[in-house]
Order: sequence, then structure tokens, then C-alpha cells
Amino acid sequence: MPVTVGALRERAPYETRVSLVPEVADKLAQAGARVLLERGAGDRARFPDVLYSKVEWADSDAAVLEQSDVLLTVQPLTVEQIGKLRPGSVVIGFMQPHAKAAEVRALRDRGITSFAMELVPRISRAQSMDALSSQAAVAGYKAVLIAANHLEKFLPMLTTAAGTIRPAQVLVIGAGVAGLQAIATARRLGAVVEAYDVRSATKEQVKSLGARFIDTGVTAEGAGGYARELTEEEKRRQQEVLDGRIAAADAVITTASVPGRRAPLIVTRAAVERMRPGSVIVDIAAEQGGNCELTRAGEVVDHNGVKIVGPVNLPGQLAYHASEMYSRNLFNFLRPALDKGELRIDWSDEVFAQSCLTHEGRIRHEPTRNALEPAQSPAASSPPGGGQS
Ligand code: NAI
Repeated sequence: MPVTVGALRERAPYETRVSLVPEVADKLAQAGARVLLERGAGDRARFPDVLYSKVEWADSDAAVLEQSDVLLTVQPLTVEQIGKLRPGSVVIGFMQPHAKAAEVRALRDRGITSFAMELVPRISRAQSMDALSSQAAVAGYKAVLIAANHLEKFLPMLTTAAGTIRPAQVLVIGAGVAGLQAIATARRLGAVVEAYDVRSATKEQVKSLGARFIDTGVTAEGAGGYARELTEEEKRRQQEVLDGRIAAADAVITTASVPGRRAPLIVTRAAVERMRPGSVIVDIAAEQGGNCELTRAGEVVDHNGVKIVGPVNLPGQLAYHASEMYSRNLFNFLRPALDKGELRIDWSDEVFAQSCLTHEGRIRHEPTRNALEPAQSPAASSPPGGGQS
């Protein structure tokens, strides 16, 4: 029996992306899978049903949930949707394990094998599956366009008959995937760009994109390429230098985050009050609590003439390409488990083992298990095993 790979019309607020674009649906069909899509799944990402040629259609999400062996999602399923999945079926998508306790328990209790795209290890072999990176790149790009739109100034330098216009100063805080894309985008638009990150390793990357790196004398290299949390003294030193640069900026793009935690607070109310009226802050971390003290997710706050934009689901504002990239990430993740149209997960592969959230009635991701099952017996801490399933 060929494996049935399903995809839904996403229902979460602000979600416009689709997990399966026509190109990827075709590839799955070529790999021997039966592809089952809910009608209208790709509509909001501008992939109407007519563009999908090798798929079967379902009229409801329930029909897709009940029939899928592998379900590809963008946002975490609701507890109600999880209840409709077949026990033993597989779900692959963003799971937000630190925020979705009830959903993770439902996946566990229903016997679902779930893979969280957030947990895909950041090794070179898995770069083509790295959905955090692909979606962060979209967010970084879009954030600069939002800033440009709110600014009452040009970004580039202009030499005109009416005189010379000075280029805008853009400050990017956090030079990870989103930040680097923001720097590149602001540079392409002609702004003068400065950037800051606690990881000093980003210095060369920032410079190579034509931006100036702000050196505060504080570094915070953490495990796995991520940042660690800073001490109080480090935060104070960082703040002093940064506040001066924030005051000088026309637009500030903040992208700083620490995985699984609230985003660090970097732009204080006092710093905002030193900015010139007409300046703009776009806080990419708005949904994780925000890097700016005045950010409100989903709103544009005007504080003494400084606009603080707290976008929600930035990748969803560029749904076509964000979906294309995300869908390819999912395909690259799933493809090695498809063998002549049948599903075979090689649990000795670290990509599957490490990104597994729940399997055979257990939470396999240790931090999530520790958070949700504090008194868990040691037996449950063994990695997914038993060879192939
Ligand atoms: P992220 O979204 O978790 O964080 C964004 C940035 O914020 C990071 O660069 C982080 O250092 C910075 N940050 C955290 N706290 C800060 C603070 N208090 N002040 C200023 N900046 C702060 O990170 P992202 O973008 O998902 O990835 C981080 C890094 O991981 C990448 O730049 C890269 O070096 C590495 N990576 C490796 C990959 C691979 O090898 N396959 C793939 C993707 C990323």
C-alpha cells in the first residue's frame, strides 16, 4: 500500500502558508506516495487547486486527518484535530513544543509519531531541511520592507536637482539568519547599516554584507551555534553601547532570540525615548515577547512619534515563497523515509531521532519531556529505537 501524505488548509490566525506546494506534491507522487489535499489548502498562498495535478482531494480537514499516514503541517494541530488522526500515523511540521503542552500530550496519548521542524539538527547535511532558517530569511527580508514603508525618509542616498538626500541609518540587532537577511535587504535598498549580535562569530558575516559591526565588548557564544543568556553586568555594558546606536538609527530591526525562551529585552522604553520622532522599530521577535519593551504583537505602537511595529507571522506575509521554501524543507526531510512509496523511518539517522517529538506513546524530546512529565520513569528516556518502523 502506498503511503498517503496529506496536507490541510491551515486554520490558525494569521496563517496563510501551505505545507504542500504543487511542485512538492508532484515530487511526492513521483516517489510513489498518494497525495491527499484538503480543498483550498493552497489558496491563501496563491496556489489554487488547479495547479495541483497529481493529488486527490478531500472536502474537510477531518477526511485528511483520518486518511493520512503522514500529515504535513505548517502550524501545530489542535487537540481536536489530533483526536482525528489514526494512531501510529506521522505528523511533520512546526510543533512549538515549549508552548503547546496540551497538544504534545495529545500527540503522545494518541500514539502519533510527530517530528518538529524546530528540532531538526543544524548540521550541514540537514541544511536543506532547515525550516527555521528558510522562514527566518523571509522574516528578515519582509521586516526591512515594513520599516521602509513606515519611514518618512528614503533609504538610499539620492542626488537630485533638489539637492542631496542622506541615506537612512538602519540598525539590525541579532545577526542570525533573519538578521543577516535584513542587513542584506537594507543594504540593497541603499541604507547605511549597522548590526549587533552577542555572538562575535557573526562579526565577519556582518562585515561581508557591507554593514558595520557594533562592538560592545560582550560575547555570548552558546552550544549548537545559538546564543546563551547574558549575565546582568554583561547586559548593562551591552545596553550602554547599544542605546547610543539605537538613538542614532532611523530604523531598528530586532531579531534576537534564545531558543525555547522569551526573547531578550534589548530596546528599553528609555532607549525608544532617545530616538528621533519618525523613526521606526520593527520587532521580529514580537511573538516571543519582543526585543523592545514597548512592542505589542500584531500592533503598531506610536510612542512620541516613534513607531514600534510588532509583526505576527512575518513569513505568512510572503506566503508564496515562504510556502515554497517550507514545503521543500518538508520534502527533503521526508524523502529519505520513502522507499518505493512506503514509509520506512531509519531511527539510527540523527535527523529523525533528534527531531522526533513523540513516538509510540512517549515524548521523545528530552527538554519537552522534562517540562511535561517531571516525574517520568527512566524507561521512557531511551531514544526511539527498534531499527526501522
Ligand atoms: P535565533 O533566531 O535563535 O537568534 C537570532 C540571533 O539573535 C542569533 O544570532 C543570536 O546570537 C542573537 N541574539 C540572542 N540574544 C541576543 C542579545 N541579547 N543581543 C543580541 N543578539 C542576540 O538564531 P538563528 O538565526 O536561527 O541561528 C543562529 C545561528 O545558528 C546562525 O546564525 C548560524 O550561525 C547557526 N545556524 C547554523 C546552521 C547550520 O549549520 N545548518 C543553520 C542555521 C543556523
